[in-house]
Amino acid sequence: MDKMTDTAIATLHYGDKSLQLPILKGTVGPDVIDVRKLYAESDAFTFDPGFTSTASCQSALTYIDGDAGILLHRGYPIDELANNSSFLEVCYLLLNGELPNAADFAKFEGNITNHTMLHDQFDRFFQGFRRDAHPMAIVLGAVGALSAFYHDSLDTSDEHQRMVSAHRLIAKIPTIAARAYKYSVGQPFVSPRNDLGYAENFLRMCFAVPAEDWKPNPTLSKAMDKIFILHADHEQNASTSTVRMAGSTGVNPFACIAAGIAALWGPAHGGANEEALNMLKEIGTVDKIPEFVQGVKDRKYKLMGFGHRVYKNYDPRAKVMQETCHQVLAVVGDPDEPLLQVAQELERIALSDEYFISRKLYPNVDFYSGITLSAMGFPPEMFTVLFALARTVGWVSQWKEMIEDPQQKINRPRQLYTGPAKRPYVPLDKRG
Ligand code: ACO
Repeated sequence: MDKMTDTAIATLHYGDKSLQLPILKGTVGPDVIDVRKLYAESDAFTFDPGFTSTASCQSALTYIDGDAGILLHRGYPIDELANNSSFLEVCYLLLNGELPNAADFAKFEGNITNHTMLHDQFDRFFQGFRRDAHPMAIVLGAVGALSAFYHDSLDTSDEHQRMVSAHRLIAKIPTIAARAYKYSVGQPFVSPRNDLGYAENFLRMCFAVPAEDWKPNPTLSKAMDKIFILHADHEQNASTSTVRMAGSTGVNPFACIAAGIAALWGPAHGGANEEALNMLKEIGTVDKIPEFVQGVKDRKYKLMGFGHRVYKNYDPRAKVMQETCHQVLAVVGDPDEPLLQVAQELERIALSDEYFISRKLYPNVDFYSGITLSAMGFPPEMFTVLFALARTVGWVSQWKEMIEDPQQKINRPRQLYTGPAKRPYVPLDKRG
């Protein structure tokens, strides 16, 4: 259903023309000026590098009010979902639009559980990587390789196949992520177990060894599940836009999600949690914070885990993550963890400093996630992998929504050309 309704017109005076541009209204959020006919009617493009003023699509999945610090999935606030729901329920919600009833949820859970194994041949694929490969490199390659293994769900025009692929991705990404970790530490792969919950199963696949099974800890399983919820979707960010961009060409969903994983890896996006922990370690002690903050102000480096393109207020996910961090440190690690002291003091100083206040820089979800995941036993190289694991549902839901949108076209932005105008070729012997 097209949620966009023309209610008003914006007039653009350009040269001797006066153009009528429809104003579209979403359910909530800013109006959107529809410039789709601009080029045809005016021979001009809009210019918006970084897409700071551009809505690239319509979507009913996730709403962010960055000024108010609000994040909703299908209308439900992120903190309510994180504190009352489960990751698999949120997956169902994102994919299907509504929270499931008990029967639908049981069916969905069963479906995901039954798809957690990988094709036996797939395991040999991991052996081709060097042991010291970054686990993101392994996950990126492995997810792309799914398209070489599951040929029966690659037809993007078939609704049933689209859903099968979505379920396969959500089900298999923890198995792939855990294998990437096991491979990097030289331990044998652990098979998924159908009697365990999604987060629990993942933790066991990461931390069980043949000599000793992993001992479930409800606080850690719950924390893992919550961390997955916090990262499940986030509107049209760089990796999601990449998934949509790739998907707009009609390529299969496994290839699209691999493209999203590549975009997520960068330090300005999903790689920031690893960077944030490294930064806290580098600062080391509370007394070093003023000197570090001065370096940020002198633009020597950025305060990782701070700032966001959309949030100009406290990231609502960061609040839940901070609570989760305390809960995890209370059962594993040190509740007086020095890095937590550094993080809290750094946050306090930054939030009262004019440099950060005037730029509306607040902690984002990555600020506390590194300390939390580290206490749970994950090395920093795995942090972005965990993000990718959780975001897979958002990517595939957004991909499905795009494919099912009748207005969908191949994404093909234009440019402001600044190179030389047409000029004749000069033979080599005539060049100075
Ligand atoms: N530390 C110090 N200064 C910052 C920071 C930061 N983390 N982030 C932004 N600024 C400053 C910029 O230098 C700029 O200052 P100026 O106006 O004086 O030139 C101003 O704040 C505006 O910043 P932009 O770079 O224009 O903001 P943009 O929206 O392009 O960047 C981004 C957002 C990439 C997230 C940025 O804040 C950043 O690099 N943060 C650190 C990395 C990080 O934590 N990324 C995680 C993002 S959340 C996620 O992916 C889950």
